[in-house]
Amino acid sequence: MDHFNYRGDTLYAEDVPVADIAERFGTPCYIYSRATLERHWHAFDHAFRGRPHLIGFAVKANSNLAVLDVLARLGSGFDIVSVGELERVISAGGDPGRIIFSGVGKRADEIRRALTVGIRCFNVESEPELERIARIAAEAGVQAPVSLRVNPDVDARSHPYISTGLRENKFGIDIHAAEAVYRRAASLPQIRVAGIDCHIGSQLTSLSPFLDALERVLALADRLHAQGIDIGHLDLGGGLGIRYTTEQPPEPADYAEALEHRLADRPYEIILEPGRAIAGNAGILLTRVEYLKPTATHHFAIVDAAMNDLLRPALYQAEQEIVPARRDSGGESRDWDIVGPVCETGDFLGKRRRLTLAEGDLLAIRSSGAYGFTMSSNYNSRPRAAEVMVDGERMHLVRRRETPRELFADEMVLP
Ligand code: LLP
Repeated sequence: MDHFNYRGDTLYAEDVPVADIAERFGTPCYIYSRATLERHWHAFDHAFRGRPHLIGFAVKANSNLAVLDVLARLGSGFDIVSVGELERVISAGGDPGRIIFSGVGKRADEIRRALTVGIRCFNVESEPELERIARIAAEAGVQAPVSLRVNPDVDARSHPYISTGLRENKFGIDIHAAEAVYRRAASLPQIRVAGIDCHIGSQLTSLSPFLDALERVLALADRLHAQGIDIGHLDLGGGLGIRYTTEQPPEPADYAEALEHRLADRPYEIILEPGRAIAGNAGILLTRVEYLKPTATHHFAIVDAAMNDLLRPALYQAEQEIVPARRDSGGESRDWDIVGPVCETGDFLGKRRRLTLAEGDLLAIRSSGAYGFTMSSNYNSRPRAAEVMVDGERMHLVRRRETPRELFADEMVLP
């Protein structure tokens, strides 16, 4: 459930008509709902109330400081993949002690900074990374808490670009090789073995791949225990899917119940790294129709947002619902291809959408709160969109629109 609903024929973000936001801040514009973010975070937190747990929001899904701040105020943890994300979390008031550092290519300076601020855990993705972390921890005179990210060889049955838990993917350490790496980790004085981590993919709409992965992770924990290596937490990554169009993903409560059933009385703390399930349906991208362009074969609605603003349709052929800000705008009812101004045939936001459209209408692309702004670019020298957060009746600009001059302000010509 989210807080982007119609009242009569007018689309609201919480208690604000989205058209008012367009009028004040222009388009294209991302709009986030604070109440929806909080609701989704609490759904996870509440679902695991029966055992120690940490809900670590995956910052890559939405790294706007206002979003991070809203979650930090709830006591959220954060899953990061770069020092850039680390600095954002700290600036937003996030607790370093609740930061999990994932990612296959952690640089030495990133590891050093994470050790300095005292993060909760490194999710280590390879043996050379373990050795590097140990060396840097020794230089800093500290002990580094680690989990190994194991690759459980489970098919997430999601889009191939966002499935990560198969043997052939670059992620994690083969679960069969992991025992030896754990033994090595346990032998290093600068390393504290804290947990086991896995993340098998994103936008999962059934629980069975998660449960298969958990089964394999628990078996590994047992094998480690038999060798005198005891771990405190299981980090099961992110990946719970959301409803974009007709999907019916499990709720966090269903997910928690299924995990609890398998975990039974094992005492592990559970860490999760949900991104999309918290932020996805907490945001929309608002765009205005610039031109209607009927051709012999298609009806194109050319809007002022493009693939540089929202890449998911172009990159994954992702379908996200597109709805009008006013349902009674008049105009032509047709199957429209909603396309942006970028010079690529792949620049579309939706194809063959039945909509009644006139020039100047506002459209909302739903489910854009995760992997929307964070994947945006300046392609075609397009300034990135404004971001606004709605909180009840109030709207707050949380990132102003870039200006064209800013795009080249750091560039230099030859002397
Ligand atoms: N933890 C790790 C280690 C991850 O790699 C990811 C996502 C997450 C957590 C969060 O997963 P989530 O709960 O959001 O599914 N750009 C793609 C999604 C890429 C996901 C990458 N990793 C998209 O727009 O669909």
